[in-house]
Amino acid sequence: MRKAEGGANLIRMTRDLRFFRALGVSGLAAATFLAITPRPLQSQVRVASPDRRNQVTVLVREGRLYYSLARDGRDVLLPSLLGFELRGASPLRDGLRITDTTRTSHDEWWTQPWGEVKRVRDHHNEVAVTVEESAPPNRRFILRVRAFDDGVGFRYEFPEQPGLGAFEISDELTEFAMADNARAWWIPSNWPRKDRSEELYSAGPVSTLDSVQTPLTMETRDGRTFMVIHEANLVDYARMFLRGPRMEGRTLHADLAPMADGLKVRGRTPFETPWRTIQLADRATDLAPSLLGLNLNPPSALASTDWIHPMKYVGIWWGMHINTMTWSSGPKHGATTANAKRYIDFAAANGFGGVLVEGWNTGWDGDWIANRDAFSFTQAYPDYDLPEVARYARQKGVRLIVHNETSGGIQNYERQMDSAFALYRSLGLDAIKSGYVTDLTSEGHSHYSQFMVQHYRRVIEAAARNGIMLDAHEPMHDTGERRTWPNMMSREGARGQEYNAWSGDGGNPPEHETILFFTRLLAGPMDFTPGIFDLLIERGSGGPRRPDEPRVRTTLAKQLALYVTIYSPLQMAADLPENYAGQPAFQFIRDVAVDWDTTRVLDGRIGDYVVVARRERGGQSWFVGAITDEEGRTLDVPLSFLTPGRRYVAEIYADGPKANWLDNPLPVTITRRPVTSATRLRMLLAPGGGQAVRIRPVR
Ligand code: NOJ
Ligand code: CA
Repeated sequence: MRKAEGGANLIRMTRDLRFFRALGVSGLAAATFLAITPRPLQSQVRVASPDRRNQVTVLVREGRLYYSLARDGRDVLLPSLLGFELRGASPLRDGLRITDTTRTSHDEWWTQPWGEVKRVRDHHNEVAVTVEESAPPNRRFILRVRAFDDGVGFRYEFPEQPGLGAFEISDELTEFAMADNARAWWIPSNWPRKDRSEELYSAGPVSTLDSVQTPLTMETRDGRTFMVIHEANLVDYARMFLRGPRMEGRTLHADLAPMADGLKVRGRTPFETPWRTIQLADRATDLAPSLLGLNLNPPSALASTDWIHPMKYVGIWWGMHINTMTWSSGPKHGATTANAKRYIDFAAANGFGGVLVEGWNTGWDGDWIANRDAFSFTQAYPDYDLPEVARYARQKGVRLIVHNETSGGIQNYERQMDSAFALYRSLGLDAIKSGYVTDLTSEGHSHYSQFMVQHYRRVIEAAARNGIMLDAHEPMHDTGERRTWPNMMSREGARGQEYNAWSGDGGNPPEHETILFFTRLLAGPMDFTPGIFDLLIERGSGGPRRPDEPRVRTTLAKQLALYVTIYSPLQMAADLPENYAGQPAFQFIRDVAVDWDTTRVLDGRIGDYVVVARRERGGQSWFVGAITDEEGRTLDVPLSFLTPGRRYVAEIYADGPKANWLDNPLPVTITRRPVTSATRLRMLLAPGGGQAVRIRPVR
């Protein structure tokens, strides 16, 4: 007994020494310090996940609050500071002590109205730690920590109290002190030079990071742990970026997006921050589908979700990006009544639910970014008869998706929002694709500031009131809003297909989507807009092609596979309708589901390849998508997810002979074969290629 106690003390002592070392205190000084300092009551509180593997420790040392995270007893995060700098008040950081702790456990299954999976389990242990300043004004807050088997989350809560009413946060001090110099896949945040998420990913050790966006995915050097830092339930706060150690140490710091005057957050008690989340997995393939953030958002606020329907759509869109059409008025104006009807006919003939029409409303002429306040959201160009197009769509059983590009003119949009949404509702239009190009708002706020967080929420709520589904481009990053507001369906928030249409940029490299899967897509659905068949964009370019001209850097089979690997409840068939004519491979886009019961990531490596299987919602068909980077691969994929004893037929859309993204992207071989749960599919992926498979039961 005594021996065991001594052992435990030794372990604690070693941990404490590690703690002080992390703070830069030498072993000797730390040991002396420990010997002479009495341990205050409850200076340390622990909570473990239901499977006991993930453990968070909250601790106070010298009046400062820290947390640390271990998995299987190995450190993931070393003691990391918590607290705030406030404007006009002393920081909420020093002289702190733990005054109370409350523990709860929770185990519940809930159902998503739509999603990557239908049923979600919320199983966690929670500890709420009350922390108080020992000196006046004795401000107090609660650190609420939840430990799940797939990661942990914590947030700060400020109860109403005499010493803390209205407050202004100039910095959140939360740290993530990485125990390992893990490899991170990152995009820069770089405010204020750029304020957008449409960036190409880089990979490198945490110690070299400067300023990056979340979700930030990392793999420890021994390959045993994958972790993702992100946030959940961002309602009335600034978006969190991470400031890196820039070659000094391995500590990442919360870095909040500022408003025009540099302030981060204005609040008043009672107040709570978003959750800071750390997803954990043993394999990269276990990171998706990522459900931790959804479990940290409140349940649906909508009385009924019957009107919300995932769908595939086409649109007057790619033509503008490849310069065969314009948003603005003139001879190439895309949004004409006749053109819209042509797209509606095409959607109806192929079973697509929606038609997006961009450039329908006045305000696109001239510099539509500089003139952002000139956009009308109700007035159509004279060659676009909105009520007639809406009537025609209804008659054909197709929904019009209304485009609302704000260019960041927030007040101009909010002024018109109620009347515009009411108009759309009266015409039976139940989906909006919004847009927020430009980095700063007219007022000079960061695209990701508290001001914008509040704006995006107002739009979600106004849309919900009017029965409207949303697909936001240049959005706030996804923090699981769709659980509370299931009309918030999809968003962009990364480099999508559009980059392949623009010259001078280089487009998306073949590895792009194999990184997206393990990074941006862990936050939530993405409106990537797959399905370009005219990969060399010949229709747009006219004359002979130069190597630097825009093009898509995938094979055609990979474009099909993206419908399975990139999850979105609104999934576009992005090419011009005429480019699908006479293409047998188009059948896959017609057949593929957009709503799922189950998702399984069968195989993959970040930045190299990924294989995903999903079973359609309310049916027995499975779809498999496999994509690779610039390297060709042969994969051996067991179909053990199929129901044993059942017979199926697989329709396989594979890269054809000698296909490769660079100079032979088009060949697709379509074959059919019987399969069962015992079958192993041998998938041959071309360089930059992919494979798409529909597996349906034989009746
Ligand atoms: C950027 C969006 O991502 C794209 O889809 C849209 O067509 C343009 N902005 C114009 O709003
Ligand atoms: Ca965009």
